[in-house]
Amino acid sequence: MHKKRVFSGVQPTGNLHLGNYLGAIKNFVDLQNKFECIYCIVDLHAITNKQNPKELKSNILETVASFIASGLNPEKNIIFNQASVSAHSELAWVFNCVARIGWMNRMTQFKEKAGANKENASVGLMVYPNLMAADILIYKATHVPVGEDQKQHLELTRDIAKKFNNDFKCGEYFPIVEPLIPKEISRVMSLRDGKKKMSKSEDSDQSRINLKDDKDLIDQKIKKAKTDNDSIPSEINGLKNRNEATNLISIYASINNVKIDKVLKEFGGKNFSTFKSKLSESIIEKICPIGKQIKKLMDDEKYLHKVLEKGSKKADILAKHNLKEIYDIIGLAKFS
Ligand code: TRP
Repeated sequence: MHKKRVFSGVQPTGNLHLGNYLGAIKNFVDLQNKFECIYCIVDLHAITNKQNPKELKSNILETVASFIASGLNPEKNIIFNQASVSAHSELAWVFNCVARIGWMNRMTQFKEKAGANKENASVGLMVYPNLMAADILIYKATHVPVGEDQKQHLELTRDIAKKFNNDFKCGEYFPIVEPLIPKEISRVMSLRDGKKKMSKSEDSDQSRINLKDDKDLIDQKIKKAKTDNDSIPSEINGLKNRNEATNLISIYASINNVKIDKVLKEFGGKNFSTFKSKLSESIIEKICPIGKQIKKLMDDEKYLHKVLEKGSKKADILAKHNLKEIYDIIGLAKFS
């Protein structure tokens, strides 16, 4: 049996939004009291796409600031950046040799991100899921909080673990990881189009709530959020094929820690304008203090560096220990 351990990663994008918060960070905060948790800023994943070096540096710090501002305790959890712990890259290379090309070709995120011109995508983008598997398995983590869109990558992580365990006849050396997907909201959608994920790369700022948005801006974005002409249903069935309505109801449920059923009971039969004002209130109450705290922390770079330094040292010890075992299983050794 493997010791229960949580690992998750977040890409260092500046300007985190409600989707990052409800889909990932809020879940991290809830887990910190129940498990040993390791949270990683995956800067090496970020460079699978072109990055501006100066912005990348600042985005890494802003992601740490967002973690802490959202309530993650850096004393209790290991918070670090991927580039600080070289074992991630080393194990990723091993997994490049375990995973099959056919497996990579099936990854829908690669297809989406590479777009029409697949030949011109970086090789790193193609093997991105192997690095992700290495992130998790270098710590022999057992549980991974992620959004719905990462489910396929976790399946691949399980396939890699099984093949490695089998190929090298090492029992259950690598655990078979379990995803932890938030129940009330598995992905937060755009406020302008309920079929698209809320995203930083969407042109219109109206499509998302940023953690640093102020009260008035949040209020205005929710007022303008797309809905349909029907009123709010009192049963879940009534949300069928109503993407925008489903999204707003789910955001409300998630931010207030209540079940969707309960929200529908409360607002069923009412129109959206009443609901929207309650929704803005809840978002403002939760998000504005976080946004203010992020801005404050960004003025204290020294502190953020210290958090990363401490976390990276702890992670490096765990990772180095496991890498040695893994190399030994394969027949490799470091002589330097
Ligand atoms: N691919 C994840 C995302 O885009 C980020 C990530 C990288 C990750 N490594 C991870 C998530 C390990 C969980 C575990 O959201």
